[in-house]
Amino acid sequence: MSALLEIRDLMVAFDGFKAINGVNLSVGEGELRFLIGPNGAGKTTLIDVITGLTKPTSGTVTFAGTSLAGRKEHKVVRLGIGRTFQTSVVFEELSVVENLDLAANFRRPLVALLRQRRGVTETVGRALETIGLQDLADSPAGILSHGQRQWLEIGMLIVQGPRLLLLDEPVAGMSKDERERTGELLTEIAKDHTVIVIEHDMEFLRRYASTVTVLHEGTVLVEGDVAAVQADPRVQEVYLGRKKEDAA
Ligand SMILES: Nc1ncnc2c1ncn2[C@@H]1O[C@H](COP(=O)(O)OP(=O)(O)OP(=O)(O)O)[C@@H](O)[C@H]1O
Ligand SMILES: [Mg+2]
Repeated sequence: MSALLEIRDLMVAFDGFKAINGVNLSVGEGELRFLIGPNGAGKTTLIDVITGLTKPTSGTVTFAGTSLAGRKEHKVVRLGIGRTFQTSVVFEELSVVENLDLAANFRRPLVALLRQRRGVTETVGRALETIGLQDLADSPAGILSHGQRQWLEIGMLIVQGPRLLLLDEPVAGMSKDERERTGELLTEIAKDHTVIVIEHDMEFLRRYASTVTVLHEGTVLVEGDVAAVQADPRVQEVYLGRKKEDAA
């Protein structure tokens, strides 16, 4: 498996504070990689750097052999990298299918979109099926549950045909059923995409993750399969230990 995403000696400083402090990360084509770590570990910042939202202080990010250094967000999207945010970005007044349609045509000028009203394209139809929202296709996105909204956002990425998907805490705030459905959805999507998922929930990881990378204070603490990572005393200290404190 050749590395699709290669990050070397990455450093990101905000006013001297090192949010990312020497990260090395390789993700192979077709992998479903989980990224975990306590609050403030640098997970979102890492995704911000890959997607061109934040400029690295030093280090390199290479995607499919191309350097992402200094590329703006829209250029990164065009190279085949899609992301979700910790907060939702769907258009509430538009229907589910219209949101997908808009995302699918993100390269076309808005006037062309407004002029042309077509039926559901094959790409959009397939995405609707993958995310399981066929019955809600014509409902406004505003009425979706939190979980359904996350699935719509994932669908809005898939229709853009990316090679790499970066999902920032997709199951946060979901019900147990929704989490399960999302786990299945990620497994399905990973069949033909490379996926990096940020997640905190250990039970979710045990069920759906294979390789896990643990970030802590801006560096990779441990990397390996779920069982090995969970058994690692360093992980228990910074991650599980922290959780116990949170619960207290
Ligand atoms: N634009 C910014 N300016 C200053 N500091 C920032 C900025 N973005 C992030 N940070 C800081 O960098 C550190 C890493 O933040 P980041 O959001 O990447 O963490 P995270 O691992 O995603 O955490 P969480 O689990 O809470 O989402 C934090 O201490 C955060 O306060
Ligand atoms: Mg974050």
